[in-house]
Amino acid sequence: MKKAIYPGSFDPLTLGHLDIIERSVRLFDRVIIAIITNPAKQPLFSVDERKSMLHDAVGKRFKTVEIDVFHGLLVDFARRRGAGVIVRGVRAVTDYEYELQMALMNRRMAPTVETVFMMAAEQYSYVSSRLVKEVASMGGSVSGLVPPAIERKLRKKLQQA
Ligand code: PNS
Repeated sequence: MKKAIYPGSFDPLTLGHLDIIERSVRLFDRVIIAIITNPAKQPLFSVDERKSMLHDAVGKRFKTVEIDVFHGLLVDFARRRGAGVIVRGVRAVTDYEYELQMALMNRRMAPTVETVFMMAAEQYSYVSSRLVKEVASMGGSVSGLVPPAIERKLRKKLQQA
């Protein structure tokens, strides 16, 4: 059974993430979406909010997808969950250096865990959670970049801020 982990901050989930999840579901028997809880980072959405957004967007659509939360080293989580593959989406070359460093560091710590890079559909090649938050916080439209329910949640959250 090929089990993969798709880790990330998902703050918030974008259509680029969803595209990678759909591709992963086609390749692997089981896909664990792993939301990082990083106390050093100040996310816009809490872990519970991110988890619930992911549940709404993918939980019901795919039977082979599971959503989990982790802290600490990703490779330790991968070992605990018995996953042999880490999935990462790469957009432009700017992602490459950081992703290469992470993949090689993870390989050094866990030689049997393989990182697999995937490209999302080209219409999402410039989409990032960071830019989505920036645009939404300044009143710009993020329609077509995140699921409609998340667009509404972003607007509500940013009104509160
Ligand atoms: O969505 P992001 O923020 O790009 O995801 C980054 C993530 C969560 C994959 C990365 O920060 C990570 O794996 N963190 C866990 C800590 C860890 O294992 N660090 C060593 C990586 S080489």
